[in-house]
Amino acid sequence: MSDNADLERRHFLTAATTIAGGVGIVGAAIPFVASFNPSARARALGAPVEVDISKVEPGALIKVEWRGRAVMILNRTEAMLDSLGDMMSVLADPGSEVSLQPDFAANEHRSLRPEILVVEGVCTHLGCAPIPRFEVAPADLGADWVGGFYCPCHGSKFDLSGRVFSGVPAPTNLTVPPYSFLSDGTLLIGSEAGAV
Ligand code: FES
Repeated sequence: MSDNADLERRHFLTAATTIAGGVGIVGAAIPFVASFNPSARARALGAPVEVDISKVEPGALIKVEWRGRAVMILNRTEAMLDSLGDMMSVLADPGSEVSLQPDFAANEHRSLRPEILVVEGVCTHLGCAPIPRFEVAPADLGADWVGGFYCPCHGSKFDLSGRVFSGVPAPTNLTVPPYSFLSDGTLLIGSEAGAV
């Protein structure tokens, strides 16, 4: 191969590599841009999340994500609310003295509306996900169990208000995030503004 031919071949290879590299960059840039559109970025920063709870039947629970954490929303039945008063003697902080909730939730039902519980699904021991256990007196949780949340990692128990039992690894009640109602059937998690 002559010197000229060799030089031309090298120019061709350099150009081909540059074009291929450019395609790679464009290809990689699309998901990057997409992942930083305004709504995704706002969510990552913890923007409030609107949740339609109009179809959550009494006794049903849904989970949503806010600030990368699971938030559990439970529509408590009358029987569930009645059971809260029976649990006081086994709870570590029945009055929610340790402030892990907005002021409006420092009560027995730890919520704005008695029937709607909103708590983070994050165990206050080491961060596992507590499991909803709404059966009464299941074999593995004992005859006194009237329903609540059970953490499978180290056995912490919480009642139907997310209040922690005494003598379990979790030191505090489950956290109630700030929230408000935009309407009867719409929750806004992450903001107390606009409560109805
Ligand atoms: S993380 Fe829940 S009991 Fe340890």
